[in-house]
Amino acid sequence: MGEALWIGVLSYLIGSISFSYWMTRILHGTDIRKHGSGNAGATNMLRVVGKGPALIVFLLDMLKGMAAVGLAWAWTGEPTWMMMGGVAAIIGHNWPVFLGFRGGKGIATTIGVTVLLTLSAALAAGTLAILTIAFTRYVSLGSLIFAAGLPIAIFLFDYPSSYVTLSLVITLMAFIRHASNIKRLVQGTESKLGAKKP
Ligand code: G3P
Repeated sequence: MGEALWIGVLSYLIGSISFSYWMTRILHGTDIRKHGSGNAGATNMLRVVGKGPALIVFLLDMLKGMAAVGLAWAWTGEPTWMMMGGVAAIIGHNWPVFLGFRGGKGIATTIGVTVLLTLSAALAAGTLAILTIAFTRYVSLGSLIFAAGLPIAIFLFDYPSSYVTLSLVITLMAFIRHASNIKRLVQGTESKLGAKKP
């Protein structure tokens, strides 16, 4: 049980490192959460700072999920703990202890976790998400489709039942963090890819 606690805490702390926040703070001396959608994530980096920094943040945020999975793998080798480590990293990304619990929306970190643990499901849900973004230019809608599709794909591809359960937690977190996006999507005021402000 001690192991589980350590995996949870360390993964949460890994997730809590907000690359979008620190990169914007270092490069521009400002808080990314005061600009654009107010989100500390790659999409808002793209909107506010630019393509290169956004790509770097996306990859580093993905890597956080992978690192948490890798940590649990090295420590226990147990699939359920690996997924739990991933969930803890997503929690850290969304509600980082270092930034007053105001972080991102967890999608890049979720991609990192699911690419390692449930690749087929990540590819299936990811394809749907990319098509959605390509046709609508709403990244948030693609993120929501990805998050909603994950548990279904994980179930259909016959991954362990603990993965299905934990992916439902991931979906729930994604929808909670996208509440403002959902509101804007319904009102027709959501920012499209390529637009400067939401
Ligand atoms: O992954 C985050 C994305 O779905 C929405 O980001 O900045 O448009 O709220 P943003």
